[in-house]
Amino acid sequence: MAKPHSTIHPIIHAAGAEQRHPAWAVMSDRRRRHTERVGELLWEWSGVLGHGTTKRIRWRAAGLLHDALKGESPKTLRPEVVDLDDAEEWPGSLLHGPACASRLRAAGVDDEPLLTAIAHHTTGHSDFRALGQALYMADYLEPGRRGLVPERAEWRRRMPRDWYAVLGEIATAKIGTLLERRIPIPAITAGFWQLITAPEPPPGWPRTGP
Ligand SMILES: [Fe+2]
Ligand SMILES: [Fe+2]
Repeated sequence: MAKPHSTIHPIIHAAGAEQRHPAWAVMSDRRRRHTERVGELLWEWSGVLGHGTTKRIRWRAAGLLHDALKGESPKTLRPEVVDLDDAEEWPGSLLHGPACASRLRAAGVDDEPLLTAIAHHTTGHSDFRALGQALYMADYLEPGRRGLVPERAEWRRRMPRDWYAVLGEIATAKIGTLLERRIPIPAITAGFWQLITAPEPPPGWPRTGP
């Protein structure tokens, strides 16, 4: 087994460098393959962006880990979520992200951009750094997803070069689905949308690739 990088937590190293999920992951085989494909996209974009090995490992780990608790029941997950003030109000289907971040934090992971990326991969978040935005996009664009096959292929082709435009188009598609189905938009998602629709990308947000 490869020696964990000195600055990377062993769980992050196992996921990002060895594509191994933690023992506490609860996922179907299909979901595991989804996380691997998301991780592959992040690994690829990170490489194109010229990141060093440590960063590429962190990016792929976000993909491997983001749905690690997708198969766990909301009843089990809700009390585990410690980073949200309003966890009681969150729909059960969205709890796997914040619960996974809480579990990683409890295990000693203190990589805040990675924890925010995982916690809010379904909702988006105004605190996203490049990794949060990348996971939000890769989760939607991985090639195993059904539907919108040509559209997703075209978005993948434009990434990571056309970063900010693709991010806006994906957020429009995802939030548009909520509107069409008359599903309430979480406040966190509304805050993310405010930044997406700003005339200029906020400071620290990539325009054409971080
Ligand atoms: Fe998810
Ligand atoms: Fe996912």
